[in-house]
Amino acid sequence: MAASGGGPEAPHRPVLLFEAVELLDPARGGLFVDATLGLGGHSEAILEASPDTRVLGIDRDREAIRLASERLARFGTRFRAAHSNFRDIKRVLAEAGETEASGVLADLGVSSLQFDTPERGFSFRHDAPLDMRMDASGGEETAAELLERLPEEEIARVIYEYGEERKSRRIARWIVERRERGESVRTTGELAALVARAVGYKRGDRVHPATRTFQALRIAVNGELDGLDEFVETAVDLLQARGRLAVISFHSLEDRVVKRALRRLSGHCECGRRVPVCACGARRAVEVLTRRPVVPSEQELEENPRARSAKLRACSKL
Ligand SMILES: C[S@@+](CC[C@H](N)C(=O)[O-])C[C@H]1O[C@@H](n2cnc3c(N)ncnc32)[C@H](O)[C@@H]1O
Repeated sequence: MAASGGGPEAPHRPVLLFEAVELLDPARGGLFVDATLGLGGHSEAILEASPDTRVLGIDRDREAIRLASERLARFGTRFRAAHSNFRDIKRVLAEAGETEASGVLADLGVSSLQFDTPERGFSFRHDAPLDMRMDASGGEETAAELLERLPEEEIARVIYEYGEERKSRRIARWIVERRERGESVRTTGELAALVARAVGYKRGDRVHPATRTFQALRIAVNGELDGLDEFVETAVDLLQARGRLAVISFHSLEDRVVKRALRRLSGHCECGRRVPVCACGARRAVEVLTRRPVVPSEQELEENPRARSAKLRACSKL
């Protein structure tokens, strides 16, 4: 599940669990790749669905790998995990001695574990270092370092594009002014307070004004859109005939990438009439199973408000 900044306390429940598992159809058995293992909720349901399923879980967060491996230990050798970026799904499969999958799932975004651990710096509900890295093992830049390095226009672009924040320029200006005074933004509390002052926070506002800025920074720090298109393409290549791919996204930009990739892979050329020979890579490799994205039921939203922007798309390999 993905979470945006400052939402209400929510249980650690997988988003669209029933719907995603139904579309993956694990009763067929075989190897399922959970490309975003997290706390292993979806994996657990796949493993429970049939004694003939195996799961290879991938996550870029070592803590997620550790906790999910503990949770799923009862499945013995039917469950394995790999610390990696899902962009490298092909290599991960090869290293696990596998050549194809019955199903692939990606439940994009940040996990409850990441969001609810104050020192990971994803949430402004606690004052903590402004970190936001899903994988802190590779020496990637933290959100604080990003805000220290980027020029003002670039900060504004990130906040506008990934956060859909109309007041992005104003927020960027405030960040850079603060930087120029020699006071970097180092903690989640400092950033939340700065954004609230920059955009004006009215008591009783339903959503904290820093929510969109926190989401934008998180997407930028983790390069969450990078390689998503390529991942969908590679995942489809790794599926066996009638294998299923399901992707849950939480942001319109992510959903757009997934939707377009699935259209292209179902043979819809996007080149336009002026291009004589198709150059977009359209091919008939899958049947799209979700003409419209599947969204959480009223009941799920009531139980887990963090699921509110979730969209599930799936396809079956021809
Ligand atoms: C929404 S959570 C998944 C929750 C999981 N489905 C469950 O039931 O507990 C997303 C997870 O994907 C991981 N993740 C996000 N982008 C990734 C990427 N490019 N490669 C590998 N893991 C990624 C995050 O670290 C996080 O643990």
